[in-house]
Amino acid sequence: MIFTVAIDGPAAAGKGTISRAIAARFGLRHLDTGLLYRAVGRKVLEGAEPVAAARALVPEDLNVPGLRGSEAAAAASQVATIADVRAALVDFQRDFARFDGGAVLDGRDICTVICPDAAVKLYVTASPEVRAERRFLELSQAGADVTRDGVLQDVLARDARDMGRAEAPLVAAADAVVIDTSDMAIDEAVERAADVVAAARKD
Ligand code: CDP
Repeated sequence: MIFTVAIDGPAAAGKGTISRAIAARFGLRHLDTGLLYRAVGRKVLEGAEPVAAARALVPEDLNVPGLRGSEAAAAASQVATIADVRAALVDFQRDFARFDGGAVLDGRDICTVICPDAAVKLYVTASPEVRAERRFLELSQAGADVTRDGVLQDVLARDARDMGRAEAPLVAAADAVVIDTSDMAIDEAVERAADVVAAARKD
């Protein structure tokens, strides 16, 4: 059975937590598509050419340590502006979305470009300040040497690049359900998303 849950939104809005919880609750496979761009970004930091790196990507590249850090995130949002990099990653994502048993994919262009026919489309967002605070806590708890203001500047720069790029810019799909998590505990956001998924499962 093909059942795709597509989740888009800006950095640190809660997409990852919601996606993992939805996947576990409904028994779906999960792909964090940001990791694909982070893995390409990491290879470019090591000297690779971006398009060649995207074409040569293998699943093991997604398990490299440090991929969740801010250096890989900044490199990811730079390679993500390149049309041929995005094109090289499309088939892998669409194959994953068609996994028999159902799949959750989260990213920036899942509802708009990768899976426009998904059974469920969500846009998860929050104010930049709330997102920066969450990312600051996440990174500092993981031992990274970061400041609140530095993380906020990174989030704002990445938002501007992701929303302003010509190729697959970050935007809420017209038919996506918007979940603004600015004033929500994460459990509440998960329940909101789960209600939408449960309703679509009944159709
Ligand atoms: O975890 P966080 O939301 O901070 O970022 P991510 O989802 O890991 O994505 C890192 C970067 O990859 C984003 O800032 C985007 O530039 C890019 N990306 C994209 O262009 N398209 C996607 N489907 C996923 C990520």
